[in-house]
Amino acid sequence: MTVWEPSGSGDPVADGICALAELETLAADRLAGPVWDYVAGGAGDQVSLRDNPRAWARHRLLPHVLRDVSGLSTATHLLGQDLAHPILAAPTATHARYHPGAERETLGGVAAAESILTLSSLGSTLPRDLGRAAGELASPWWMQVYLQQDRSHTHEYLDRAVAAGACALVLTVDTPSLGARDRDKRDSFGFSDGIELPTLSHLAVMPDPLPVHRRIWNNHLAHNLTPADITELADRYGVPVLVKGVLRASDARLAVQAGAAGVIVSNHGGRNLDTTPATADVLCAIVDEIGGAVPIIVDGGIRRGTDIAAALCLGADAVMLGRPIIWGLATYGARGVQHALEIARTELEMAMALLGAPSIADLGRDLLVP
Ligand SMILES: Cc1cc2nc3c(=O)[nH]c(=O)nc-3n(C[C@H](O)[C@H](O)[C@H](O)COP(=O)(O)O)c2cc1C
Repeated sequence: MTVWEPSGSGDPVADGICALAELETLAADRLAGPVWDYVAGGAGDQVSLRDNPRAWARHRLLPHVLRDVSGLSTATHLLGQDLAHPILAAPTATHARYHPGAERETLGGVAAAESILTLSSLGSTLPRDLGRAAGELASPWWMQVYLQQDRSHTHEYLDRAVAAGACALVLTVDTPSLGARDRDKRDSFGFSDGIELPTLSHLAVMPDPLPVHRRIWNNHLAHNLTPADITELADRYGVPVLVKGVLRASDARLAVQAGAAGVIVSNHGGRNLDTTPATADVLCAIVDEIGGAVPIIVDGGIRRGTDIAAALCLGADAVMLGRPIIWGLATYGARGVQHALEIARTELEMAMALLGAPSIADLGRDLLVP
């Protein structure tokens, strides 16, 4: 990366950035080319990518008036942790592509915004180093896991991540293969473009006899995940294991039965199997199946406080932002990440005040038009 400089004055507040979409426009400009294709792109014809934000916006919020909202608070409790608000940073790979400080820079913004960062196992930073930085900031963090074919390779870095203080593991289960990302293929972009993956540097490259255009398997991803893997991780590490990438109520139930401490409803930001439904459209069924048993987190196309309010009204316990964190990091570094999360939090607070719902517990389905 050439010398990194922040956008504008370096201060997104002074620059008048007041919506996540504005950070997106700035990030598109500075990352233009293969990196932007990789961040912004989805799989196939990008049906799910487009549908994710639209599905949140299809919900209609029906406010109560004449309610005292003066004690408004977004405080909540998740997996034994008190949180100032329920807006988390989703795991996304290789932050060195966006900022030389990589995930440690991201963490600075996440901590300042009182959120939680999940480090991707395809991250640019070793869990040990992130753990050290998180300890200094007293910021909780989670570790995302793509299981490897040989589970001992996964244990090698998870042992270190948990020893370094990861409070939870996020097992991504929706990626036996990458999706058909035409833009990355065209750009010959992905994980073979010289970018370092320090957490997985111990993996030997497995030869694939197929020509590049016929390949579907990736060296970094196991293709044989079962519920037993959830149980095994939960037993081995003794920290909560959240299962990420669930779209069916029956799979959510299966994950809980296998020992999942939480479920993340996600279609991987429309990047894997195209034409999956928007997460906003399947959340309800999953809440009805496992709500109350374990926390439910949702991501995908969440760009406004009203989207977050709708997710919480439907029964989610928290939400994750994926791309908006990258937009913030690429444009203003830690300050941009902090600002992205604070925009979302402030908009959520406004939505709650206007809905007549002063606490997270007040957000229920009665606030949505059926
Ligand atoms: C550039 C990029 C890289 C990602 N890398 C990972 C990853 O390493 N592990 C993972 O579980 N999900 C990954 N995701 C998916 C996100 O965790 C999340 O599910 C998704 O981005 C949410 O949708 P949103 O970007 O519309 O907010 C990635 C998403 C993007 C955009």
